[in-house]
Parts: sequence; C-alpha cells; structure tokens
Amino acid sequence: MGIGAAAGVAAAGGVALTAQASGDTSASSSSASGSLVFDPDAYTELTTTVTDTEGTDHEVTYHFWKAITYVAKPVDAAYQSLNVSVPVTIDGTAVDASDAPILFANSVGGYMPSSVANATGIGGGGTGGGMVGGTPSGAPSSSASAAATAPGANGDTNATGGALSTNQLLALAAGYVVVEPGARGRTLKNSAGEYYGVAPAAIVDLKAAVRYVRANKGRIPGNTDRIVSAGTSAGGALSSLLGASGDSPLYDEYLEEIGAADASDAIFATGAWCPITDLEHADGAYEWNWGSNAAGSGSKVDRTVSKELRAQFAEYQASLKLEGLNGFGTLNARNYDEYLVKQYLEPSATTYLAALPDSERATYLAANTFITWKNGRASFSWADFLTHVGARKKTAPAFDAFDLSTGENNLFGKGTTVSRHFTAYSLKNDTTGLTSKRPDSDIPELLRLMNPMCFLVEKANPNRTKHWWIRLGAKDSDTSHTVSANLAAAAHTLGDDVSHLYYWDQGHGANTDAGDFIEWIAKVTGHRTRTRK
Ligand code: DHB
Repeated sequence: MGIGAAAGVAAAGGVALTAQASGDTSASSSSASGSLVFDPDAYTELTTTVTDTEGTDHEVTYHFWKAITYVAKPVDAAYQSLNVSVPVTIDGTAVDASDAPILFANSVGGYMPSSVANATGIGGGGTGGGMVGGTPSGAPSSSASAAATAPGANGDTNATGGALSTNQLLALAAGYVVVEPGARGRTLKNSAGEYYGVAPAAIVDLKAAVRYVRANKGRIPGNTDRIVSAGTSAGGALSSLLGASGDSPLYDEYLEEIGAADASDAIFATGAWCPITDLEHADGAYEWNWGSNAAGSGSKVDRTVSKELRAQFAEYQASLKLEGLNGFGTLNARNYDEYLVKQYLEPSATTYLAALPDSERATYLAANTFITWKNGRASFSWADFLTHVGARKKTAPAFDAFDLSTGENNLFGKGTTVSRHFTAYSLKNDTTGLTSKRPDSDIPELLRLMNPMCFLVEKANPNRTKHWWIRLGAKDSDTSHTVSANLAAAAHTLGDDVSHLYYWDQGHGANTDAGDFIEWIAKVTGHRTRTRK
C-alpha cells in the first residue's frame, strides 16, 4: 500500500491548501477568521430513530452541518473539520435548541487520526486510522497511508465507536446540540515523510474546534458557554486535557499557526471514559496496578523492570499530594489499593449485584467466591480483585516500550522520526541502538501539553472545567486504575464537582450509563429542554 497511498496523502494535502488559498485570499492577514463564520443555513435536514436507555424509540428530525473546516490555515482539512447536529423535532414536537448544552464529542481512539468528513449523519464519524472494529470508518483518502509504518500495536483497541455514538444520539434526543470534531492523529504522514499529527496536534485541533464554536456564538445553535466534552480512551485523555487546560496560553502559538479563531477554548464540563493519560507516569502506575498479573498471549513481563517502574510510581504518587474522595486522606502507593477497593471497586460490584435478580446474584456469587455479599454490600480484597481481572493487557513498560513499538512512542514522534522515547528510564533501556542519555529537549514541553495533571496539580488552571464525569471498566487493564482515580482526586482536591464510577466486570471502552451522563449534563448546566410554542 505504501507508494500509492503516500501519493494520495500528497494530493489530498495539496487540494486542501489550494482550496484555502483561493477561498480565502486574506488567510494570512488578521482577518483570516473571516473564513471561520458558521453559515446557519448550510444544513441538510435528516431524521433518525434514537432508542433510549429504556428501549423506547424516538424519532428525531435534526439539522446537520457537515465537514466545516474549523481553522483558517488547515494542515489537513479532512481532519480539522467538524459536524454539527441540532434537533428540531423530537417525536413530532418542535424543540428549541438555541440555548441547549453543546455535547462536543470527539471520536479519537489510539491517538490515531479521526475524521468526520465522510459521515452521513450524527455519530457517523470514525477514526481515519481504521481501528474501529478493524474497518476504516469515515476515512477520507488522505488517511490512506496512515499506520503504514507507524505502530498501531500495544493493544490499542479503539473502543470509541459504539460508546460515543450512544452519547451523541442520546444527547440529540434530549434536545442538545452535538458537535463532532475531527482531529489529526499520530500516524498521519505527508509526502515528505513527516508525521504531522503527532503530539500536540490532536489537542491543538480540539481546542481550535472549541474556539470555532465559541467564535460563532449566536450563529451556531446552542449555548457556547455550556460546552461539554466527551471522549473515550485516547479520546477520553484528550477530553480531560481539553477540560483541564482551558485557555492555557501554552497552546497559543500552535493555535495561531493553524489559524484558529480568536476565542476562548475553555469548556464547561468534561466527560472522559477510560482516559489513557498521564503518559510519562503511566509505566510506573501500570506496574503498581497490574504488576502481579501475568501478561496475556504468552508474553513475558521482566520482573526487574516491573519492580523498578513500581518504585517510580511510589515516588510520583507521593509528589502529587492528592486527597482521596470522601475524606480518605492523602493518596500514596501503600494505601491506594485500599482506596480503589473502598471508593470504587466494592461500590461498583455492589451496584452490579444489587441490580441482579436474586437467582442471578446467587449464581454470580457462587462463581465468584472472592466476593462477600452481606447486608446488600460486596466486599473483597485487592489481591482477589487482581486475580479476578486476570491477564494484564500490556507488557512492561506498557507505554514507553524499550523497542519503541507502542502507539505512544509514535505519539511523541517528530518530523520524519516515527517514534521516540518520552521517559528517561525507557531511553536508558532502549533496545533500538539509541545512545542519548536524555529524552530529546522538546519532550518535556510536549508531555506538559499532553497531560491534564499538569493543569490540576501544583499551579491549577483557573479556567479549567469544574465538572468532571469519569468512567472506567473495572476490568480495563489498558492503563492503571490510578490514572483515572488521580484525575478525579486532583479535580476533587481543587474543589471541583467530580462523578467517577467504575463499571463492574466491564473492559476497555465501556459506557453502560450513557443515559445518566445525559441527565448529568442537564443537571450541571441547569438545562431544561424547551419545546417551541
Ligand atoms: C487506546 C488504548 C490504549 O491501550 C492506548 O495505549 C492508547 C489508546 C485507545 O483505545 O484509544
């Protein structure tokens, strides 16, 4: 596929630039934002059936704006475009979404490129990298060479498709506006062999898309001060980062470079499912969490490496000085197992078991004797929980692989270099022949631009989102459970409103309470669906 596909990339890039040049002759001047005006009339009217969480069907007629390029100087418009869906009637009743919350739902998975340009309606966006069920969905031609040489391995299963379109459809049926942004991703390569979607491209694009929406206040339907972001896995990481880093000047030069609209990129609330984030600390956290679990599919974990990484986690966690929820006290590597069990895992199992009919609960408990069920509550030990989860998904180190084979290594690629180390430890143990002692000098800044924790710990960003919805499958071993829990604890320590729950026995990418998320949006935004007349 190499040569033909690479030519496709070059051609598509050329087309985008040509269109830019002829369509907006003032692109390089300060009036570049002239090209970023949302056209309220440029929609098509579509109808879809949305099945709610009770199983009831609703007919929703909505206006659909497709593939609006959200920056004045796109690098690749196929990715730097967004779709907008606005409900006009729900079950035959006219609704007024002019002041409704805006669900800003990305479909990034695996830090891969995501495009909505070929979608035929809401929820139709997909990852250009083609990781949704192995089928390229909504992938424009310019993504054709994606992943030809970049790693896609490391068990990066993009689980975004199903989970997120559920959010989007339910939001539409609740009367909300839905914005679906595309974004550049790590595997995109131009004809010169340069990776143009590596860090921090995706977060810069999502911020630019928020700015576009904000700059079009009054033209684009919905309340631009009530933007609620959603994303899963890498998309969950970006959603958290979008929430944490609102209006941070650190991104200004990147935003300027692509001609982002001059507006705020702060968002009101963040929804994040299984966020794969805090990457520079994730190897240590992973070994702390899953270090005693055997790796699946015959791969081996180096015990020494696992132990060394685990020690790094202890140091890192102590430095964070985070307060656990519900008055737990300061979290550290010694008490975190108890914290996860008491705060998240037992309540998750309790909710699950309590909802089962008596006979099914009895069957479940008979098959899972590590759980004690007493007075309507589940209890168990951390060690037994780990055994229950079984094989860990990744080997050690889980994120910065010694052989540069992970998607995250590619995320920190640069120019024509497909993959780089982003931790000193993995660079030291590199097996690809690298001899440098320290990660490249631009790496610390890139890590900062990609990590929501940097905006929540020590010097907190005052313009961050103050409302957090964080969800995780209890059996998800794509990253450490401490990653989400630290995010929640960091926001909680700052006094933010945090809802963080686990889905019992669910794996990576689960979203089993989408209806609750939609209700939570109404609650935190104070929104009531308005009918017309
Ligand atoms: C995703 C999963 C991973 O295991 C990972 O390391 C990065 C991203 C994902 O599903 O998006």
